[in-house]
Amino acid sequence: MNAAIATTQVPIALGDRSYDIHIGCGLLGQAASWAGLPASNEALIVTNTAVGPLYADRLAAQLGGRHRRLLQVVLPDGEQHKNAATLELIYDKLLAEGCDRKTVIYALGGGVVGDMAGFAAACYMRGVPFVQVATTLLAQVDSSVGGKTAINHPLGKNMIGAFYQPLRVICDLDLLDTLPARELSAGLAEIIKYGPIADSSLLDWIEDHVDALRGGDKAALAHAVRRSCEIKAAVVGQDEREGGLRAILNFGHTFGHAIEAGLGYGSWLHGEAVGCGMVMAADLSVRLGLADAALVPRLQRLCQRAGLPVLAPALPMSRWMSLMRGDKKSEAGEIRFVLIDGLGRALIRPAPDALVASVIAAHSVAA
Ligand code: NAD
Ligand code: GLY
Repeated sequence: MNAAIATTQVPIALGDRSYDIHIGCGLLGQAASWAGLPASNEALIVTNTAVGPLYADRLAAQLGGRHRRLLQVVLPDGEQHKNAATLELIYDKLLAEGCDRKTVIYALGGGVVGDMAGFAAACYMRGVPFVQVATTLLAQVDSSVGGKTAINHPLGKNMIGAFYQPLRVICDLDLLDTLPARELSAGLAEIIKYGPIADSSLLDWIEDHVDALRGGDKAALAHAVRRSCEIKAAVVGQDEREGGLRAILNFGHTFGHAIEAGLGYGSWLHGEAVGCGMVMAADLSVRLGLADAALVPRLQRLCQRAGLPVLAPALPMSRWMSLMRGDKKSEAGEIRFVLIDGLGRALIRPAPDALVASVIAAHSVAA
């Protein structure tokens, strides 16, 4: 069945930082996936305790001829480890092995590994080349693409980071076969996100194919990954460093990041928090007179069908507000939300605290 899935490449046009996203089945084991990437004395595969045992040997088998020494660092698994202490493990390995500035870093994992390996690549010797081998649905449709790299700080999500583009992104759909169902659902949240902000027909398509996506249907996954990457590539191509437009990719994230940080990283998955956050941001859009009221139940239904929670946990209102004020989109302490301005179009603007509080109350479990 997989033979029917043609490999496609989605280009990201960023001048001398341009690269391709390769999407298809069996890519890990195909020479074409790695053709044209730089050779070097050392290369470092950054992975974690869950993904490494599944796929690191297969990746290493492909890279062996390209690098004199193939090194590996295996990080602890989980969002709670996306921090400075874990990042140090990557630098420790690079320095202990005498890696020079031509060392290629391969991020083999989901968004957590990708964000950390990318940040390490941005900083080590002020920048070494890196490749994203995305192993979760979320990483394939979002985090591996566009060059945002970061670690968390106890006071805020992704607060320490850099814009740093990979040389290539590899999205091998076969790697999703081992992904736990809950993680697949978390990835669906970031796919759903692209509908309201950029492409209402994608939202229709997801509604028709959500069961196939959850069932691991490769043709459906290939379409969803490709369309998501196309939308993200178009946005990032216009606004790489989030001067304005790129912030629309954070639809649902202002509420979502507050859920993640408020509960402690790793309690809710990032995609779960984004799914719930999208419902809240949609309702805020409706209450501000920007979006049609039907959008809220529509997103609620779709998130539920995708296996995502739609009611936020109980957090004190003061905690919600202080966490959201710390969001990177805030300006002078004023929270700015990504809002839907008619289906398929987004804008960013502040909202009155009382209205935000009413949205939170309407979409949270009772305390
Ligand atoms: P993750 O990286 O924690 O991966 C989810 C879980 O699945 C982990 O336990 C992981 O070990 C496991 N896993 C990964 N691939 C697997 C596979 N093929 N088979 C079996 N298990 C596998 O989580 P995620 O959802 O991929 O990424 C979330 C992170 O991405 C968050 O930290 C978020 O902030 C970040 N993010 C970054 C961007 C960006 O633009 N840089 C965008 C969105 C999200
Ligand atoms: N995931 C949001 C962004 O890449 O900008």
